[in-house]
Amino acid sequence: MPTILAIESSCDETSASVIQDSKILSNIIANQKIHELYGGVVPELASREHQKNIIPVVLGALDAAKIHKNQLDAIAFTRGPGLLGALLVGVSFAKSMALALNIPLIEVNHMQAHVLAHFIGEPKPQFPFLCLTVSGGHTQIVLVRDYLDMEVIGQTQDDAVGEAFDKTAKLLGLPYPGGPLIDKYAKEGNSLAFPFPKSEMPDLNFSFSGIKTAILYFLQNNTQKNPQFIQENLKDICASVQYSLVEILMQKLRKASKQTKIKEITIAGGVAANSGLRNSLQTEAKKHNWNVYIPDFQYCTDNAAMIAMVAHYKYLAQDFCEQNVGALARWEI
Ligand code: KG4
Ligand code: ZN
Repeated sequence: MPTILAIESSCDETSASVIQDSKILSNIIANQKIHELYGGVVPELASREHQKNIIPVVLGALDAAKIHKNQLDAIAFTRGPGLLGALLVGVSFAKSMALALNIPLIEVNHMQAHVLAHFIGEPKPQFPFLCLTVSGGHTQIVLVRDYLDMEVIGQTQDDAVGEAFDKTAKLLGLPYPGGPLIDKYAKEGNSLAFPFPKSEMPDLNFSFSGIKTAILYFLQNNTQKNPQFIQENLKDICASVQYSLVEILMQKLRKASKQTKIKEITIAGGVAANSGLRNSLQTEAKKHNWNVYIPDFQYCTDNAAMIAMVAHYKYLAQDFCEQNVGALARWEI
């Protein structure tokens, strides 16, 4: 019955979680509000915030779980992918704590963790399943054969879909992160008001740079003609952008399901909160007999509970890492 402390610091959330025998006992997350002032995550500031937050977040997680540090069997941490300076804070902290307690260290791939977030609650998907991981930093379709046996079968070749949401929001004068606001205004808009081109990528890969540029030119042209264009059409613009971005995702998901003949379909990551994506997924599920799984929102965005879930299965496999391990800004699943 392993008890593990897991630490996440790959981007702008400092988080710690305690897991005992596959049950999450605590999941403490410190959000970094400072980035809102800059309209995006500033890596240097993220590292500094992690340094401030890491000890209170870890103590908070142990406290909430009612676990003393001497009861821990291992320390897990996000090794990558992510912002190097941000990762280094969690990696160094985890190494020091494991050394001090003389217990093993477990390295965790952040993208694997997004996938295993599906095993925190109920219902759980059956293997093999497909996971569309969509966030501010990632857009991937993962074929999941087992807890620790996964393969990326499609991914973005440029921006992540969350970035496309956030950058569009910025052009519309909305604050960061703009994805949830686009979602909010889209609910009252006409999604067919303004058609945007959907880039054609081969295989199961994605590209969002083309549509991002198309949105930029569309807004520039129209505001030149009418300076009030954005204010007058905000809801329709949001609905049209959201529709196009979701359709790019769904096209590839349909293709992936057809190619692999897998109908267990899951989504993860911050953009999984998007109501357009959720609705579209439910419609497709009915059409193609898919079983669809979406984790609780708190486990979609970055959190240490999902890191703890991977750590649990790695502990069972006795898959530990050395003390000289370093952070990895890039790390394929
Ligand atoms: O997983 P996450 O918290 O952090 C990263 O690892 O990036 O995802 C954050 C992203 C942001 O781009 C944010 O705008 C987007 O998720 N997001 C949404 C919604 N809620 C969060 N995008 C569209 N609609 C939403 N409702
Ligand atoms: Zn993430």
